[in-house]
Amino acid sequence: MSLLAVAVGGRGVVDPAEPVLRADDEALLRGRGAFETIRVYAGVPFRLAEHLERLAGSAERIGLPTVNRLELEELARQAIEAAGELDAVLRLIWTPTPTSLALVSALGDHYDGLRERGQRLISLRGVRADEPWLLPGVKSTSYAVNMAAEAEARRRGADDAVFVDADGIVLEGPTTNVWWRRGSTLHTPSVELGILAGVTRAEVIALAAGCGYEVAEGAYPLEELAGAEEAFTSSSVREVMPVVELDGASIGRGPAADELQAALRQAALATLQQ
Ligand SMILES: Cc1ncc(COP(=O)(O)O)c(C=O)c1O
Repeated sequence: MSLLAVAVGGRGVVDPAEPVLRADDEALLRGRGAFETIRVYAGVPFRLAEHLERLAGSAERIGLPTVNRLELEELARQAIEAAGELDAVLRLIWTPTPTSLALVSALGDHYDGLRERGQRLISLRGVRADEPWLLPGVKSTSYAVNMAAEAEARRRGADDAVFVDADGIVLEGPTTNVWWRRGSTLHTPSVELGILAGVTRAEVIALAAGCGYEVAEGAYPLEELAGAEEAFTSSSVREVMPVVELDGASIGRGPAADELQAALRQAALATLQQ
């Protein structure tokens, strides 16, 4: 991650090399912080209100002080301006002390190439967060497991992972939601499985009908994904990203991923014109 700018609550924009956290902040000691990763298009964070809403929910669930949304919005504005990069990645972080941070980093230049080629995924056993203390739907700074899954996927020559539960039910990727298509139906795991309610996932659900697809949410075995006509992932940073391989077996390319990616970009453009 190439960090371009940092803004801190009570201080404003600081040098990215400056220390910004107390040593006893539990976001650092225990991974007990809440965060959001947001795509910035032409200097404007996409669906900022939805991300702040999810951040507030995550903070509440892990017992953090109430999120100061106005402050975070202002920090986001300052950090984006300081970064001077129109297309970028914004991270908002809220910790127990409380410390509020807005980080802006460069968008990797490999995503468009990956979209052209399509991703290779491997399935990995993950945890189905079906108890409140497993923090279903919470985006906390305890992401070491997610990062380890990504690393394992790369170690095995794939691009990313998809988690399945102990019964082989598809959950989500370490930083993505997962989708596949059969006919004109797009399938995606239900948020009732304890997965993150992706902001991009909600966007894809909203855009699907306009592209001629209906959406079905449920608990699906991995074979459903493996046997799909096409598959893709969704996330704020990677947007809609086709999948071409699962556990070494090919999955076909199809029109839905490209249509939804175009529709997502169109929606982002529409917000700039408001
Ligand atoms: C576990 C997990 N699932 C799904 C997503 C996709 O969510 P969004 O579309 O809000 O970026 C993320 C995003 O980082 C994630 O960490």
